[in-house]
Amino acid sequence: MTGASTTAHALARYRAEFPVFERQIYLNTCSLGALARRSRERVAAFLGEWDQRGAAAWYDVWWESLSDLRRGYAGVVGAQAEEIALHASVSTATGVLASALDYASRPKVVTTSLDFPTVTYQWLAKRPLGVQVEVIESPDGVSVPLEAFARAVDDRTALVATSHVYFTSGAVQDVRAIGDLAHAHGALCLVDGYQSVGQIPVDVRSLDVDFFTAGGLKWLLGGPGIVFLYVRREVARRLVPTTTGWFANERQFGFDSRRMDWHQDARRFEQGTPALASVYAQLGGLDLLREIGWPEIFEVTRELAADLTTLATERGLRPNVAPDPSARSAIVMIPSADPPAAVRRLAAAGIVADARPGHVRLSPFFYNLRDDYVAAIEILAGS
Ligand SMILES: Cc1ncc(COP(=O)(O)O)c(C=O)c1O
Repeated sequence: MTGASTTAHALARYRAEFPVFERQIYLNTCSLGALARRSRERVAAFLGEWDQRGAAAWYDVWWESLSDLRRGYAGVVGAQAEEIALHASVSTATGVLASALDYASRPKVVTTSLDFPTVTYQWLAKRPLGVQVEVIESPDGVSVPLEAFARAVDDRTALVATSHVYFTSGAVQDVRAIGDLAHAHGALCLVDGYQSVGQIPVDVRSLDVDFFTAGGLKWLLGGPGIVFLYVRREVARRLVPTTTGWFANERQFGFDSRRMDWHQDARRFEQGTPALASVYAQLGGLDLLREIGWPEIFEVTRELAADLTTLATERGLRPNVAPDPSARSAIVMIPSADPPAAVRRLAAAGIVADARPGHVRLSPFFYNLRDDYVAAIEILAGS
């Protein structure tokens, strides 16, 4: 992206796939990705199948759509389809995970104050059962030093649970180093990748973590109601959840209430019937993203975010991003004395952004153009 140029980038032609831009300037992908025509079409197809075929659709297309989606998610993060469990939310996925750990000799779970709270809540809720939660504080509100993890993780730690990209600051964590640290103490590592998958490259093998979760809401253009939990193959075989459902049973259609035959793979972490409309919306989003091409998506998104940060800095807005440019992502936090009021001013100009404590959050994606955030920054700089 050339700083002063307003020339459209290589993916600008895909903007027309997102009708929201006919009405608004959408700069809030880290809350909710824009609706793609492709997702709407796939959901409409699902509704048609429901209407015309009813439950008969389960036996071929719907059941197969679940396998398609497990394969699709696996492809995005470099996993095998058998290592993917489908869930309705990160909360339900991590809830099942939390139910599978043995806290008797390892009562401790380490997390940070910058992580999305729903992850930490899984273990706070288990405090009455003896689980000890250590929430590492961030010294600057942007990131958490690896040394702080090193001090917190010990041989009584069952799990380190943290984010790939912090929703609070957009900082990218070195999760490989955090996972290594956890493993050196015999602990497992869960990474919440909801804010990374789709905007930066993710490969669960090279990250070498045990669990990784992300989903449709944001950078994967699938909307609400559908997420995945990657469970490393060896880990899935040795853990048995205590919160479950019939989708975790490999003899699901045996309908035998007397016994539980666990899936031998990540599906033992599933629960009940997935929301098919969400599955279809996500299949549409993934289809489009694959067609556009991941390397181009990552590159354009990174360049837009870097340019936005430079521009905001030049206009004196002092964006609160990671000091190291290689640890930045497309979540750009702009300090604000009154974030809700600033977001309302943006909204009055047709710009969709988000307020977080002390900040306005802008999150460009490949479908944005430079003019989108130039307009936003001018409003924020003028306020
Ligand atoms: C990092 C992160 N994790 C998780 C979530 C959502 O969790 P859930 O799927 O349980 O609503 C969000 C945002 O909605 C998020 O930003």
